Amino acid sequence: MRVVLAAVFALAASVACAQTPIERGAYLVNAVMACNSCHTPIGPNGPDVSRLLSGGRTFDEPRFKVTGSNITPDKDTGIGNWSDAELKAFLRTGVRPNGVPVAPIMPNIFYTVLTARDLDALVAYLRSIPAVHRETPAPEYRAKSPHEEAPYAGAQMTEADLADQVQHGRYLATIAHCLECHTPPGEAGHDFANSAGRGGTVFKGPFGDVVSANITSHPTKGLGGWSDDEIKRALTQGISRDGRKLKPPMAYAAYAHMTAQDQSALVAFLRTLPARE
Ligand code: HEC
Ligand code: HEC
Repeated sequence: MRVVLAAVFALAASVACAQTPIERGAYLVNAVMACNSCHTPIGPNGPDVSRLLSGGRTFDEPRFKVTGSNITPDKDTGIGNWSDAELKAFLRTGVRPNGVPVAPIMPNIFYTVLTARDLDALVAYLRSIPAVHRETPAPEYRAKSPHEEAPYAGAQMTEADLADQVQHGRYLATIAHCLECHTPPGEAGHDFANSAGRGGTVFKGPFGDVVSANITSHPTKGLGGWSDDEIKRALTQGISRDGRKLKPPMAYAAYAHMTAQDQSALVAFLRTLPARE
């Protein structure tokens, strides 16, 4: 697995403008957007790359029971029959070509910022991976409104926006859906307007209960007192400021492959999150 991913990331680490769309897509999927966390079977050593993106975790919640879909080019069990335009429309809206929206576990509300170039790159990469024939359980939608989620203000961004370091960081944090996990749930979904980055969401898993941290610029409750390197270490190695090993489900192993430039941009953006406690 390390060998395969190492090859993917060796390509991705080259200068952004020299990347092919497939290389850029591989980088976005595997290092920034962590699609594997939900769409690849997870074994004892992390994502099983021999079955990359062929279906992943099941989320059993009051409103729905859904499984990370097979998004390989397999025509029967994957998305091999979707057109490029259908796939791009889906990423931005969460509505499948057959008109059925997905449950909001799929972080589409954050993908509205994706640049035209990155939408092309994602499609190019997803078309290039091996087709894996593997059935995943059909979704069950239980409530009247299983698909609703609070909107997240995110107009499509442009390559020109990304030239600014803080805007670039905002872009990366958005498509990595950092604030989904790090903003507490309110009555009507996440309260992005008033509590972005405040933490406090509880995640349950085989790793026990874990509460997402405050990642605002608050000097004591958040990251205000942390150095840039301490924040980067937490992101890429899963080690907190005091040396404690951080628990899943944050995708530290994916972020470990983020370029130094992208890590710095993310930190610059996190510094701008208003302090909250
Ligand atoms: C936090 C978990 C999570 C992440 C991260 C995630 N997805 Fe999903 N995705 C899901 C789930 C769960 C479903 C199925 C939801 C349903 O059936 O209602 C889904 C559905 C989809 C579908 C629809 C497939 C079909 O056959 O209906 C596509 C395409 C997709 N995701 C692509 C992606 C891509 C590409 C990425 C990364 C850029 C990604 N997803 C990241 C959880 C996730
Ligand atoms: C799937 C949910 C999820 C996503 C996505 C996520 N995180 Fe986290 N993050 C957590 C949880 C939960 C913790 C706390 C882990 C623990 O305490 O063991 C955490 C911890 C952290 C920490 C360490 C804070 C501390 O006090 O030790 C930082 C920094 C952080 N996240 C930043 C980010 C950034 C930046 C992103 C986006 C690139 C991100 N997270 C994406 C869930 C998530």
